[in-house]
Amino acid sequence: MKRAIVIYDTKFGNTEKIARALARGMEKQGTKVDCVNTDEVDIDKLVEYDFLAIGGPTHAFGVSQPMKAFLEKLKGVDIKGKKAFAFDTKYKAWWAGSAGKRIEKTLKRLGMSLVKPHSSAIVTGSEGPLKDGMEEMFEQIGGEMQN
Ligand SMILES: Cc1cc2nc3c(=O)[nH]c(=O)nc-3n(C[C@H](O)[C@H](O)[C@H](O)COP(=O)(O)O)c2cc1C
Repeated sequence: MKRAIVIYDTKFGNTEKIARALARGMEKQGTKVDCVNTDEVDIDKLVEYDFLAIGGPTHAFGVSQPMKAFLEKLKGVDIKGKKAFAFDTKYKAWWAGSAGKRIEKTLKRLGMSLVKPHSSAIVTGSEGPLKDGMEEMFEQIGGEMQN
């Protein structure tokens, strides 16, 4: 069976909810999924996965500090050719920026194969909550993910 890992950063818990929804959707289609905070990722074990989904909150129009540190660490691992998907949480505003966009750029540079363009879950305030329907949307994305 294919193995996948969903890796997330979260300050207030919203991105964690989205990461878990994505993982749930993937599990429903029969993929074995681990869902782990960036702080807890065993970087040397990433080679064992076929698919990496990586997401975090949008901070200052881009990635949070913990996500930035994690992406730096990723540069030391041979994950070239693996499948990947980037996501984020962010405001629905023209100026909001997107962590997912930055994450996706890094994953492309590392030679990963993006299965679909990055997706954003909308929060209605800095600490949340998520806009209605966001967890359902990501569960569906997980269910349709080609692994
Ligand atoms: C320091 C800081 C900077 C932020 N900057 C942005 C931003 O530039 N654009 C945006 O859409 N949201 C911004 N936000 C709001 C985050 O998108 C929101 O806190 C996040 O989606 C919540 O996810 P979490 O609960 O997983 O931390 C910022 C939040 C913090 C705490």
